[in-house]
Amino acid sequence: MNRSVIVAANWKMNGNLALIKEMTSALANVSLSSNTCVVVCPSFPYLSAFAQARVDKALDKKIMLGSQNASEHQQGAFTGEVSNSMLQEFGVNYVILGHSERRSINKETSTLVAHKVRSVLDAGMTPILCIGESEQERETGQTNVVLAAQLQPVIDEIGIEKFADVVIAYEPVWAIGTGKTASPELAQETHQYIRQFIADINQPIAEKLSILYGGSVNAANCQQLFAQSDIDGGLIGGASLKVDEFTKICSTV
Ligand code: 13P
Repeated sequence: MNRSVIVAANWKMNGNLALIKEMTSALANVSLSSNTCVVVCPSFPYLSAFAQARVDKALDKKIMLGSQNASEHQQGAFTGEVSNSMLQEFGVNYVILGHSERRSINKETSTLVAHKVRSVLDAGMTPILCIGESEQERETGQTNVVLAAQLQPVIDEIGIEKFADVVIAYEPVWAIGTGKTASPELAQETHQYIRQFIADINQPIAEKLSILYGGSVNAANCQQLFAQSDIDGGLIGGASLKVDEFTKICSTV
């Protein structure tokens, strides 16, 4: 098995030029293990500044650039949208799709997310496909059904073989920004379910699939989470905005 370990920073609608400068300077001094990849996903206006800071500090091989969203359309009259080819032109390697904030606030359906996954793959970038259940869904025993319903449209859209180029992020909605992290055991159990769901269709693809955990990950809890056999890194929100905290997380993996 040679799954890569990924630590991805989702800055959401936070951060500024000063943070880019501080974060890239700090990341330049972090030593990463050989199969670890760090991805930083700032807001659209900062992609180009981040890309430049990476080059200036010779980090372009070490730190990957990610976007927090992309349009499913290629071009045209879609005011306020950003296409995959635009992202690619600015050196973006990864695109977060289906984040629970976009599913709930922007009413993105799993079918739309599936179309976006296809567009990102067609543009030669890697989708980070977010899935996760709400607190109520967990409490009523619906977790696995919800996760399957979020995964199936993507499998139907792109075919299972294309999951070789997809990263999944399991983010329980109740753990996002709440400080309520899933216990390592609960996270492992759910990651194992996700991997098995894929394995039931294609075992080799499942073995190579990187599944990240997201939801209140910080420097204090990341080690135990990342030690779980089916957890291949994290998608970090709040803690990725704090330079000390994020660099500690990166050096923990
Ligand atoms: P927090 O780490 O702030 O809980 O956010 C997680 C998240 O939504 C990452 O995409």
